[in-house]
Amino acid sequence: MAQVVTSHRGPVTGTATHQRKKRPFLLDLYSTAVGKKYVMGLTGIAMMGFVLFHMIGNLKMYLGATHLDEYAEFLKQLLVPIAPEGVVLWLLRGGLITFLFLHLHAAWSLTRLNRHARPVKYQSKRDYQIANFASRTMRWSGMIVLAFIIWHLSDLTFGVANTVGTDGVFVKAEVYNNVVRSFQRVPVSIFYVVANILLGIHLFHGTWSIFQSLGWNNPRFNNWRRGFATGFAAIVVLGNVSFPIAVMAGIVG
Ligand code: HEM
Repeated sequence: MAQVVTSHRGPVTGTATHQRKKRPFLLDLYSTAVGKKYVMGLTGIAMMGFVLFHMIGNLKMYLGATHLDEYAEFLKQLLVPIAPEGVVLWLLRGGLITFLFLHLHAAWSLTRLNRHARPVKYQSKRDYQIANFASRTMRWSGMIVLAFIIWHLSDLTFGVANTVGTDGVFVKAEVYNNVVRSFQRVPVSIFYVVANILLGIHLFHGTWSIFQSLGWNNPRFNNWRRGFATGFAAIVVLGNVSFPIAVMAGIVG
């Protein structure tokens, strides 16, 4: 009688019999350097939009207390009555915090990735110098801007770092008074000016790099690119540093 031979051989090592658990596409993309650069670029664009509109909104300071305080109230009333008061503002804040977190995480993990994956130095001396200068500046200017944001929120949003009014209470809705009281402290004003200049340096390099990160880096556009990065950073910085200077000079108060 013929004997039935059954094989109990396992899969040959190295063949594709065992399927790797698939990660969601976006997580898979984020695990690569290209994905992280996209996240840096896109979150950077969103935060550029914030700093520009924040500066433009703050220009209301030059129109007086009523205008600035009403503007802050208007932000709370966004889409009322379709949405309850403050909800849209909180959604925007949530988006901003998420972008900031993703931006920081992508920066941190790109640095780690670069340190592990650079057995060979850049071939071109010029490229090496530019990359090195930009990345070093970005790291420390970014960290100082982050420290500034923490101070800024304690100062003008929560009021714990603000000199309180005559009755000893920080009134959040009195935005104009809070800003003036804050900038009447010379060291605070100097800190705002320095931090905003660093923000400008960060914005300049960041705006320049976005085109590289997103692959829009045809050398033909380099002049346009440099002009846009310089112009954008200059507008934000000039607007922002004008506020503490105007208070210290007694133009606003
Ligand atoms: C001198 C320039 C600036 C002035 C006068 C200013 C003024 C203000 C004021 C008055 C508030 C409180 C608004 C409110 O509670 O209604 C605020 C909030 C805030 N500022 Fe600024 N700001 C300046 C620069 C910046 C910069 C450069 C950044 C970011 C890099 C920034 C980020 C924020 C954030 C994230 C909030 C919280 C927004 C919210 O929770 O609604 N500010 N700022």
